[in-house]
Amino acid sequence: MDPFITDLCSFAESEGSRVPELEQPMALLADSLGRVSRLEQSERLSLPVVDDHLAAALDVAEGPVGDLLRNILPDAGWAQPYPEHVGEPDMDVFRAGFGYAPVVGSPENSYRGDAFPLYGSEEVFVGAVLQGPNIVYPSHVHRAVEVYWAASGTAGWQKGDVWSRHGPGATILHEAGVRHATTTGDEAILMMFAWVTDPRSIPVIVRL
Ligand SMILES: [Fe+2]
Repeated sequence: MDPFITDLCSFAESEGSRVPELEQPMALLADSLGRVSRLEQSERLSLPVVDDHLAAALDVAEGPVGDLLRNILPDAGWAQPYPEHVGEPDMDVFRAGFGYAPVVGSPENSYRGDAFPLYGSEEVFVGAVLQGPNIVYPSHVHRAVEVYWAASGTAGWQKGDVWSRHGPGATILHEAGVRHATTTGDEAILMMFAWVTDPRSIPVIVRL
């Protein structure tokens, strides 16, 4: 198996053992990773927020997630989500300060814009997220069961009606349909995410 996928699979298995609520999501992830294939490399796109903050965030990214991201992100391209919200002032600010890098996922999901995953899977969607300083990722929902691992930076996170702060080493599980949001302060945050079900779900912004 590909060395990165082997490392990611080992990480998923250890997270499933370490965190009780991740047992089932990580079993799904580890199982699905046994069926991924490396895709043709396409052009690597970057974004201004990535050019401004990724190198510093990767330098201090902690733990096994930091190692996984340092190994794979040099190969990955970046995209902005929510193209359907272009022209809405708050979403334009958010999109300018946010990027995601698909690593494992469907190569045929047009929603994901111009960045293509490095490994093909129709079962899971795994990648990195970089959110610059003083950026609000508004409350949103999706069908996919999602796990975030914070690698660097501390931010405010909403899950349901509860806000809390999470920093490097935190693991955050969003069950299907749970509303969540992320607000950064003075520092950028770098995370790895995994959608372990419904990888083609489209996230929907919740306007109150
Ligand atoms: Fe999410």
